[in-house]
Amino acid sequence: MPKLLEFRNFSMGFKDDDGTVHNLLNNVTFDIEEGRAVGIVGESGCGKSVTNLSVMRLLPRSAVIQGGKIIYRGQNLLKKTDKEMEDIRGKDVAMIFQEPMTSLNPVLNIGFQIGEVLKKHRPDMNEEQIKNAVTNQLELVGIPSPEKRLKQYPHQFSGGMRQRVMIAMATICQPDLLIADEPTTALDVTIQAQVLDIMNRLKDKGSLMLVTHNLGVVAEICNDVVVMYAGTVVEKGSMDEIFDNPCHPYTKGLMAAIPTLSSGKEELYSIPGTVPLSNKFSAGCRFADRCSQYFDLCQDKVPPTRQLSASHYVQCWLDFERRE
Ligand SMILES: Nc1ncnc2c1ncn2[C@@H]1O[C@H](COP(=O)(O)OP(=O)(O)OP(=O)(O)O)[C@@H](O)[C@H]1O
Ligand SMILES: [Mg+2]
Repeated sequence: MPKLLEFRNFSMGFKDDDGTVHNLLNNVTFDIEEGRAVGIVGESGCGKSVTNLSVMRLLPRSAVIQGGKIIYRGQNLLKKTDKEMEDIRGKDVAMIFQEPMTSLNPVLNIGFQIGEVLKKHRPDMNEEQIKNAVTNQLELVGIPSPEKRLKQYPHQFSGGMRQRVMIAMATICQPDLLIADEPTTALDVTIQAQVLDIMNRLKDKGSLMLVTHNLGVVAEICNDVVVMYAGTVVEKGSMDEIFDNPCHPYTKGLMAAIPTLSSGKEELYSIPGTVPLSNKFSAGCRFADRCSQYFDLCQDKVPPTRQLSASHYVQCWLDFERRE
Protein backbone atom coordinates (compact mmCIF):
# COMPACT_ATOMS: atom_id res chain seq x y z
CA MET A 1 0.00 0.00 0.00
CA PRO A 2 1.49 3.44 -0.89
CA LYS A 3 2.44 5.60 2.04
CA LEU A 4 0.63 8.88 2.51
CA LEU A 5 2.49 10.13 5.57
CA GLU A 6 5.84 8.97 6.94
CA PHE A 7 7.37 10.05 10.23
CA ARG A 8 11.09 9.32 9.96
CA ASN A 9 13.18 9.66 13.15
CA PHE A 10 11.39 12.89 13.95
CA SER A 11 12.74 14.54 17.11
CA MET A 12 11.72 17.81 18.73
CA GLY A 13 11.68 19.48 22.09
CA PHE A 14 10.61 22.63 23.90
CA LYS A 15 12.84 25.43 25.09
CA ASP A 16 12.44 26.27 28.78
CA ASP A 17 12.78 29.75 30.31
CA ASP A 18 16.58 29.68 30.38
CA GLY A 19 16.80 28.49 26.76
CA THR A 20 17.59 24.81 27.48
CA VAL A 21 15.86 22.50 25.00
CA HIS A 22 14.32 19.37 26.54
CA ASN A 23 13.76 16.65 23.99
CA LEU A 24 10.15 15.42 23.87
CA LEU A 25 9.49 13.50 20.64
CA ASN A 26 12.42 11.14 20.15
CA ASN A 27 13.06 9.41 16.82
CA VAL A 28 9.34 9.10 16.14
CA THR A 29 8.93 6.74 13.17
CA PHE A 30 5.64 5.40 11.77
CA ASP A 31 3.66 5.40 8.54
CA ILE A 32 0.12 6.12 7.52
CA GLU A 33 -0.75 4.18 4.41
CA GLU A 34 -3.33 5.37 1.95
CA GLY A 35 -6.88 4.52 2.91
CA ARG A 36 -5.94 3.35 6.44
CA ALA A 37 -6.98 4.70 9.81
CA VAL A 38 -4.19 4.89 12.36
CA GLY A 39 -4.88 5.30 16.06
CA ILE A 40 -2.33 7.14 18.19
CA VAL A 41 -2.75 6.09 21.81
CA GLY A 42 -1.04 6.89 25.10
CA GLU A 43 -1.76 8.62 28.37
CA SER A 44 -2.14 12.34 28.84
CA GLY A 45 1.14 14.16 28.23
CA CYS A 46 2.68 11.49 25.97
CA GLY A 47 3.05 13.89 23.03
CA LYS A 48 0.07 12.96 20.88
CA SER A 49 -1.14 16.52 20.21
CA VAL A 50 2.43 17.71 19.65
CA THR A 51 2.80 14.95 17.03
CA ASN A 52 -0.31 16.23 15.22
CA LEU A 53 0.74 19.84 15.41
CA SER A 54 4.12 18.87 13.95
CA VAL A 55 2.41 17.51 10.82
CA MET A 56 0.38 20.69 10.46
CA ARG A 57 3.51 22.78 11.22
CA LEU A 58 1.56 24.57 13.93
CA LEU A 59 4.00 24.07 16.80
CA PRO A 60 4.44 26.99 19.22
CA ARG A 61 7.53 29.24 19.04
CA SER A 62 9.23 27.49 21.94
CA ALA A 63 9.36 24.25 19.93
CA VAL A 64 12.70 23.22 18.42
CA ILE A 65 12.91 20.59 15.70
CA GLN A 66 15.96 18.45 16.43
CA GLY A 67 15.99 16.08 13.47
CA GLY A 68 14.16 13.74 11.14
CA LYS A 69 11.50 14.16 8.48
CA ILE A 70 7.73 14.24 8.15
CA ILE A 71 7.06 13.14 4.60
CA TYR A 72 3.67 13.69 2.94
CA ARG A 73 3.29 12.13 -0.52
CA GLY A 74 7.05 11.91 -0.86
CA GLN A 75 7.77 15.49 0.21
CA ASN A 76 9.28 16.57 3.51
CA LEU A 77 6.77 18.91 5.17
CA LEU A 78 9.53 20.33 7.37
CA LYS A 79 11.11 21.88 4.26
CA LYS A 80 7.94 23.58 3.01
CA THR A 81 7.63 27.35 3.15
CA ASP A 82 4.83 28.88 5.23
CA LYS A 83 2.96 29.71 2.03
CA GLU A 84 3.22 26.12 0.78
CA MET A 85 1.95 24.87 4.15
CA GLU A 86 -1.03 27.20 3.94
CA ASP A 87 -2.00 25.56 0.67
CA ILE A 88 -1.64 22.07 2.13
CA ARG A 89 -3.54 22.77 5.37
CA GLY A 90 -7.27 22.30 5.03
CA LYS A 91 -7.00 21.03 1.44
CA ASP A 92 -4.66 17.99 1.61
CA VAL A 93 -4.26 17.57 5.35
CA ALA A 94 -6.91 18.84 7.76
CA MET A 95 -7.21 18.66 11.50
CA ILE A 96 -10.00 18.47 14.03
CA PHE A 97 -8.48 20.10 17.11
CA GLN A 98 -8.77 18.81 20.64
CA GLU A 99 -10.81 21.78 21.88
CA PRO A 100 -13.60 22.80 19.49
CA MET A 101 -14.53 25.97 21.37
CA THR A 102 -11.03 27.43 21.20
CA SER A 103 -10.70 26.56 17.52
CA LEU A 104 -13.91 28.28 16.39
CA ASN A 105 -14.04 32.06 16.20
CA PRO A 106 -16.80 33.24 18.60
CA VAL A 107 -17.63 36.40 16.63
CA LEU A 108 -18.11 34.83 13.19
CA ASN A 109 -21.11 32.74 12.22
CA ILE A 110 -20.65 29.05 11.46
CA GLY A 111 -21.54 29.36 7.77
CA PHE A 112 -18.86 32.00 7.24
CA GLN A 113 -16.21 29.98 9.08
CA ILE A 114 -16.82 26.78 7.13
CA GLY A 115 -17.16 28.74 3.87
CA GLU A 116 -13.79 30.40 4.41
CA VAL A 117 -12.00 27.09 3.90
CA LEU A 118 -13.62 26.76 0.47
CA LYS A 119 -12.95 30.39 -0.39
CA LYS A 120 -9.28 29.78 0.22
CA HIS A 121 -8.85 26.51 -1.60
CA ARG A 122 -11.56 26.63 -4.28
CA PRO A 123 -11.33 30.02 -6.04
CA ASP A 124 -13.45 28.54 -8.85
CA MET A 125 -16.57 28.51 -6.62
CA ASN A 126 -18.93 31.51 -6.35
CA GLU A 127 -20.82 32.67 -3.21
CA GLU A 128 -23.93 30.68 -4.08
CA GLN A 129 -22.01 27.45 -4.69
CA ILE A 130 -20.10 27.92 -1.45
CA LYS A 131 -23.32 28.43 0.51
CA ASN A 132 -24.83 25.29 -0.99
CA ALA A 133 -21.71 23.26 -0.29
CA VAL A 134 -21.63 24.43 3.34
CA THR A 135 -25.32 23.60 3.79
CA ASN A 136 -24.78 20.11 2.38
CA GLN A 137 -21.75 19.61 4.56
CA LEU A 138 -23.66 20.54 7.74
CA GLU A 139 -26.39 18.15 6.73
CA LEU A 140 -23.82 15.42 6.19
CA VAL A 141 -22.55 15.71 9.76
CA GLY A 142 -26.10 15.60 11.10
CA ILE A 143 -26.83 19.24 11.98
CA PRO A 144 -30.61 19.73 11.71
CA SER A 145 -32.01 22.74 9.74
CA PRO A 146 -28.60 23.59 8.30
CA GLU A 147 -29.83 26.69 6.43
CA LYS A 148 -30.90 28.30 9.68
CA ARG A 149 -27.86 27.09 11.57
CA LEU A 150 -25.45 28.67 9.06
CA LYS A 151 -26.23 32.10 10.41
CA GLN A 152 -25.69 31.18 14.04
CA TYR A 153 -22.58 31.62 16.20
CA PRO A 154 -20.53 28.95 18.03
CA HIS A 155 -22.08 29.71 21.45
CA GLN A 156 -25.51 28.83 20.05
CA PHE A 157 -24.37 25.23 19.45
CA SER A 158 -24.06 22.46 22.02
CA GLY A 159 -20.65 20.85 22.61
CA GLY A 160 -21.53 17.85 20.43
CA MET A 161 -22.75 20.10 17.63
CA ARG A 162 -19.62 22.23 17.76
CA GLN A 163 -17.60 19.06 17.39
CA ARG A 164 -19.62 18.23 14.27
CA VAL A 165 -19.12 21.75 12.95
CA MET A 166 -15.37 21.17 13.35
CA ILE A 167 -15.66 17.90 11.44
CA ALA A 168 -17.66 19.68 8.71
CA MET A 169 -15.00 22.38 8.47
CA ALA A 170 -12.09 19.94 8.41
CA THR A 171 -13.61 17.74 5.73
CA ILE A 172 -15.26 20.21 3.35
CA CYS A 173 -12.31 20.09 0.92
CA GLN A 174 -12.16 16.29 1.21
CA PRO A 175 -8.60 16.13 2.54
CA ASP A 176 -6.52 13.03 1.85
CA LEU A 177 -5.45 12.95 5.47
CA LEU A 178 -7.70 13.89 8.35
CA ILE A 179 -6.10 14.30 11.75
CA ALA A 180 -8.59 14.08 14.59
CA ASP A 181 -7.37 14.86 18.10
CA GLU A 182 -9.67 13.36 20.73
CA PRO A 183 -12.79 14.11 18.67
CA THR A 184 -15.15 12.37 21.08
CA THR A 185 -13.72 12.81 24.56
CA ALA A 186 -15.94 15.71 25.63
CA LEU A 187 -19.13 14.12 24.32
CA ASP A 188 -21.79 11.94 25.88
CA VAL A 189 -22.00 8.34 24.67
CA THR A 190 -24.85 8.79 22.18
CA ILE A 191 -23.24 11.79 20.51
CA GLN A 192 -19.91 9.95 20.68
CA ALA A 193 -21.42 7.09 18.73
CA GLN A 194 -22.79 9.51 16.13
CA VAL A 195 -19.45 11.29 15.72
CA LEU A 196 -17.68 7.93 15.43
CA ASP A 197 -20.15 6.94 12.78
CA ILE A 198 -19.33 10.10 10.82
CA MET A 199 -15.60 9.40 11.16
CA ASN A 200 -16.11 5.81 10.03
CA ARG A 201 -17.79 7.04 6.85
CA LEU A 202 -15.08 9.64 6.23
CA LYS A 203 -12.44 6.95 6.54
CA ASP A 204 -13.63 5.45 3.27
CA LYS A 205 -12.62 8.62 1.43
CA GLY A 206 -9.11 9.14 2.80
CA SER A 207 -6.67 8.30 5.57
CA LEU A 208 -7.28 9.06 9.19
CA MET A 209 -4.90 9.76 12.06
CA LEU A 210 -6.98 9.47 15.19
CA VAL A 211 -5.67 10.47 18.59
CA THR A 212 -7.55 9.09 21.54
CA HIS A 213 -7.22 7.82 25.10
CA ASN A 214 -10.04 5.44 24.38
CA LEU A 215 -8.89 2.05 23.13
CA GLY A 216 -12.52 1.05 22.51
CA VAL A 217 -12.72 3.82 19.91
CA VAL A 218 -9.49 2.58 18.32
CA ALA A 219 -10.83 -0.96 18.11
CA GLU A 220 -13.94 0.31 16.38
CA ILE A 221 -12.32 2.54 13.78
CA CYS A 222 -8.61 1.91 13.28
CA ASN A 223 -6.60 -0.47 11.09
CA ASP A 224 -3.25 0.30 12.70
CA VAL A 225 -2.14 1.47 16.14
CA VAL A 226 0.84 3.54 17.31
CA VAL A 227 1.43 3.41 21.07
CA MET A 228 3.27 6.47 22.40
CA TYR A 229 4.89 6.87 25.76
CA ALA A 230 6.67 10.08 26.83
CA GLY A 231 7.41 11.15 23.26
CA THR A 232 8.55 7.77 21.97
CA VAL A 233 6.78 5.14 19.88
CA VAL A 234 7.04 2.12 22.19
CA GLU A 235 5.01 -0.24 20.00
CA LYS A 236 3.20 -0.15 16.67
CA GLY A 237 1.33 -2.69 14.61
CA SER A 238 -1.98 -3.62 13.06
CA MET A 239 -5.02 -3.36 15.29
CA ASP A 240 -5.11 -7.16 15.73
CA GLU A 241 -1.42 -7.36 16.57
CA ILE A 242 -1.68 -4.69 19.25
CA PHE A 243 -4.91 -5.95 20.79
CA ASP A 244 -4.25 -9.70 20.57
CA ASN A 245 -0.50 -9.74 21.14
CA PRO A 246 0.64 -6.59 22.96
CA CYS A 247 4.37 -6.92 23.67
CA HIS A 248 5.50 -3.74 25.41
CA PRO A 249 4.74 -3.66 29.16
CA TYR A 250 3.19 -0.20 28.60
CA THR A 251 0.82 -1.48 25.91
CA LYS A 252 -0.07 -4.41 28.16
CA GLY A 253 -0.80 -1.95 30.96
CA LEU A 254 -3.07 0.15 28.71
CA MET A 255 -4.94 -3.00 27.67
CA ALA A 256 -5.33 -4.15 31.26
CA ALA A 257 -6.78 -0.76 32.16
CA ILE A 258 -9.70 -1.04 29.71
CA PRO A 259 -12.90 -1.33 31.75
CA THR A 260 -15.09 -4.27 30.80
CA LEU A 261 -18.66 -5.00 31.83
CA SER A 262 -17.55 -8.32 33.30
CA SER A 263 -14.90 -6.76 35.53
CA GLY A 264 -17.68 -6.26 38.08
CA LYS A 265 -16.65 -4.91 41.45
CA GLU A 266 -12.98 -5.80 41.14
CA GLU A 267 -10.84 -2.73 41.21
CA LEU A 268 -9.87 -1.53 37.74
CA TYR A 269 -6.18 -1.86 36.97
CA SER A 270 -4.20 1.33 36.45
CA ILE A 271 -0.51 1.70 35.60
CA PRO A 272 1.20 3.03 38.74
CA GLY A 273 2.74 6.52 38.51
CA THR A 274 2.35 9.20 35.87
CA VAL A 275 3.99 10.35 32.63
CA PRO A 276 7.06 12.46 33.55
CA LEU A 277 7.69 15.92 32.13
CA SER A 278 10.36 16.09 29.46
CA ASN A 279 13.01 17.54 31.80
CA LYS A 280 12.71 14.38 33.94
CA PHE A 281 13.04 11.69 31.26
CA SER A 282 15.48 8.86 32.04
CA ALA A 283 18.44 8.38 29.70
CA GLY A 284 17.31 4.86 28.81
CA CYS A 285 13.74 3.66 28.39
CA ARG A 286 11.41 6.48 29.41
CA PHE A 287 8.93 3.97 30.84
CA ALA A 288 11.59 2.27 33.01
CA ASP A 289 10.56 3.66 36.40
CA ARG A 290 6.92 2.59 35.96
CA CYS A 291 7.65 -0.78 34.41
CA SER A 292 7.00 -3.96 36.39
CA GLN A 293 9.55 -5.86 34.27
CA TYR A 294 12.31 -3.31 34.64
CA PHE A 295 15.97 -4.37 34.95
CA ASP A 296 19.24 -2.41 35.15
CA LEU A 297 19.87 -1.81 31.47
CA CYS A 298 16.46 -0.16 31.01
CA GLN A 299 17.44 2.89 32.99
CA ASP A 300 20.75 3.49 31.18
CA LYS A 301 20.34 2.75 27.50
CA VAL A 302 17.59 3.50 24.98
CA PRO A 303 16.12 0.14 23.97
CA PRO A 304 16.47 -1.00 20.36
CA THR A 305 13.40 -1.43 18.17
CA ARG A 306 12.63 -5.04 17.39
CA GLN A 307 10.56 -6.13 14.40
CA LEU A 308 8.10 -8.91 15.19
CA SER A 309 6.25 -9.08 11.85
CA ALA A 310 5.98 -7.03 8.66
CA SER A 311 3.99 -4.42 10.59
CA HIS A 312 4.59 -5.10 14.30
CA TYR A 313 7.46 -3.32 16.10
CA VAL A 314 8.33 -2.93 19.78
CA GLN A 315 10.95 -0.78 21.48
CA CYS A 316 11.90 -2.62 24.66
CA TRP A 317 14.89 -4.42 26.19
CA LEU A 318 12.78 -7.43 27.23
CA ASP A 319 13.70 -10.61 25.37
CA PHE A 320 16.77 -8.85 24.02
CA GLU A 321 19.39 -8.61 26.68
CA ARG A 322 18.02 -10.07 29.85
CA ARG A 323 18.98 -13.64 29.05
CA GLU A 324 22.56 -12.69 28.20
N1 LIG B 1 3.94 24.88 24.22
C1 LIG B 1 4.52 24.00 25.03
N2 LIG B 1 5.62 24.34 25.74
C2 LIG B 1 6.23 23.45 26.57
N3 LIG B 1 5.81 22.20 26.74
C3 LIG B 1 4.72 21.79 26.05
C4 LIG B 1 4.02 22.67 25.16
N4 LIG B 1 2.98 21.97 24.62
C5 LIG B 1 3.04 20.75 25.15
N5 LIG B 1 4.08 20.63 26.00
C6 LIG B 1 4.45 19.42 26.76
O1 LIG B 1 4.62 18.34 25.89
C7 LIG B 1 4.13 17.14 26.48
C8 LIG B 1 3.17 16.48 25.53
O2 LIG B 1 2.01 17.30 25.38
P1 LIG B 1 0.79 16.89 24.43
O3 LIG B 1 -0.17 18.01 24.47
O4 LIG B 1 1.31 16.48 23.09
O5 LIG B 1 0.22 15.62 25.18
P2 LIG B 1 -1.02 14.70 24.74
O6 LIG B 1 -0.47 13.31 24.56
O7 LIG B 1 -1.74 15.29 23.60
O8 LIG B 1 -1.90 14.72 26.06
P3 LIG B 1 -3.52 14.77 26.24
O9 LIG B 1 -3.94 13.35 26.11
O10 LIG B 1 -3.69 15.30 27.61
O11 LIG B 1 -4.09 15.66 25.18
C9 LIG B 1 3.54 17.53 27.83
O12 LIG B 1 4.47 17.24 28.82
C10 LIG B 1 3.32 19.02 27.69
O13 LIG B 1 3.45 19.62 28.93
MG1 LIG C 1 -3.58 16.14 23.37
